[in-house]
Amino acid sequence: MTDNYLSTAVEIAREAGALLAQLAKRPQEIEYKRPSDLVTEADRRSEALIVERLRSHFPRHAIVGEEGGGQKVDSDYCWYVDPLDGTTNFAHGFPVFCVTLGLAYRDEVVAGVVYDPTRDELFTAERGAGAYLNNRRIHVSKTASLSESLLATGFPPFADNHQLNIEFYLRFTQLSHGVRRAGSAALDFCSVAAGRFEGFWELKLNPWDKAAGTLMVTEAGGRVTDLAGREFRLLGDEVFASNGLVHEAMCRVFAEVLRQHRTPDTQAAR
Ligand code: IPD
Ligand code: CA
Ligand code: CA
Repeated sequence: MTDNYLSTAVEIAREAGALLAQLAKRPQEIEYKRPSDLVTEADRRSEALIVERLRSHFPRHAIVGEEGGGQKVDSDYCWYVDPLDGTTNFAHGFPVFCVTLGLAYRDEVVAGVVYDPTRDELFTAERGAGAYLNNRRIHVSKTASLSESLLATGFPPFADNHQLNIEFYLRFTQLSHGVRRAGSAALDFCSVAAGRFEGFWELKLNPWDKAAGTLMVTEAGGRVTDLAGREFRLLGDEVFASNGLVHEAMCRVFAEVLRQHRTPDTQAAR
């Protein structure tokens, strides 16, 4: 049933991606939503294009865009749109960014697209039908040990829990091949789905950052939960995606770091 939805979303993501690639060639004028929370003309123009296209194809669907665009209608279907994921990278000319659109039915993601115009990589997924990179099926990695894993995380610009995430970052850096912080959550999920990363977590992500990406991971055979291994909620804050094989080991590390974070004096005395 979502067939038509996915192919339309692909068309729109490609068009918005081409716009971003074009705008990336110019110097960027940066505005601030909050300190360290950047927005550019590209975010706004990409969102206007996507929302206009979605509206005309799906007038009865709700649309939530990061930059405030959208369509407030009472519907079981809702499109979550990040018109430019990786704005800080984009603004600095660091070529790691994408467009991402996820379609949820009653808060459960059923279709998603992530398009990276810098590499011409198109990631697509539909619930129950697998995940694809440029139309070829993708799968999470088979690496089962944390010590052989490459991981990723992110630091939201507006969160107050950077200290805790730095502690996770430190511990996983000691236990793995390393932790990347590339600056586009949607692409981080896709890297888990494509077997490039074994795991990715972030403590505070909005639904438009994670709708398409989380579906990509589960459809590629991976697992998505919160940091304690409990059921993932699209409208919740934290998220942890992995190839499934390192999931339990990573949950144990999150729990251990959290314990130490909460009782630093007791732990230090040991
Ligand atoms: C951000 C990126 C970044 C993540 C932040 C997001 P934006 O999205 O996905 O990797 O760490 O939490 O807010 O602002 O570039 O769309
Ligand atoms: Ca984002
Ligand atoms: Ca964005």
